[in-house]
Amino acid sequence: MSAMISSPHRQPIEVRPLNPTIGAELHGLDLSQPLDGEAVEAVRDALHRYKVVFFRDQRLTPEQHLDFARRFGSIEVNPIFGHVPGQPEIMLLVKEKEDRHNIGEIWHSDMSFAPVPPMGSILLARQVPPAGGDTLWCDMHRAYETLSDGLKAVLRGLRAVHNNRGQLERAAARANETSTEVRPTAFAKVREAIHPVVRVHEGSGLPCLFVSDAFTWCFEGWTREESLPLLRMLLDHATRPENVVRFRWAEGSIAFWDNRSTMHYAANDYHGHRREMHRITVNGTPAA
Ligand code: SIN
Repeated sequence: MSAMISSPHRQPIEVRPLNPTIGAELHGLDLSQPLDGEAVEAVRDALHRYKVVFFRDQRLTPEQHLDFARRFGSIEVNPIFGHVPGQPEIMLLVKEKEDRHNIGEIWHSDMSFAPVPPMGSILLARQVPPAGGDTLWCDMHRAYETLSDGLKAVLRGLRAVHNNRGQLERAAARANETSTEVRPTAFAKVREAIHPVVRVHEGSGLPCLFVSDAFTWCFEGWTREESLPLLRMLLDHATRPENVVRFRWAEGSIAFWDNRSTMHYAANDYHGHRREMHRITVNGTPAA
């Protein structure tokens, strides 16, 4: 059932959930126009509640895309991937017709190998295939909540090592099979950080699992071999269909996801077609 958020100054915002706990379409906002403070709060509230929010039919210039993102924090310049020409703050994700791979075909939370991972990302579809190319997000709060009390207690005592070793290996192996540019400087070092396995979300105060297939290497003090079975179990649990929302893109669609309470996965099922996406990433804040 949808809910309306009214204001005397503009048309109401309609929130249409796609799943009870993750994913909602927001209607009634034209993101090419400056948003008033109430609208920004309504988007932020919906983001905290639904973890990823979607907008349809937004024809934004790169500047308008940036203006919208800046309402939610400072912008990160991505150290790994290339950008839209002339727009260093807008990451260019492109899969050409002949490419075999895209970026993001593995469950991940962006840049969790950074000491302060991003708060979220705002992805705008510029060109989409006629079918396929959906993106999926899973709810890491619900994933945590639906574990047993015993396992929750164990996980609350653990921290995990996140690094981009696998990302760099995949990028090197697929250099001729993907058109998304990886900056040559990205290969200079493996980036690594340690984070609690259960992270308390800064906005909602809710506990969320914070591990991923792409970047979690091991639990702190455990070998990788010891870590993988538990990690695999947590990833399988987190990505059960009930925890997942799947979004069908159209040109001008936007997804704004909370990187602290979700993982996402870009389906790679549209060979022979071009897909171009522009991503702006909003910086996170250091844990309190
Ligand atoms: C990403 O992982 O940021 C890419 C998502 C997508 O291309 O759908």
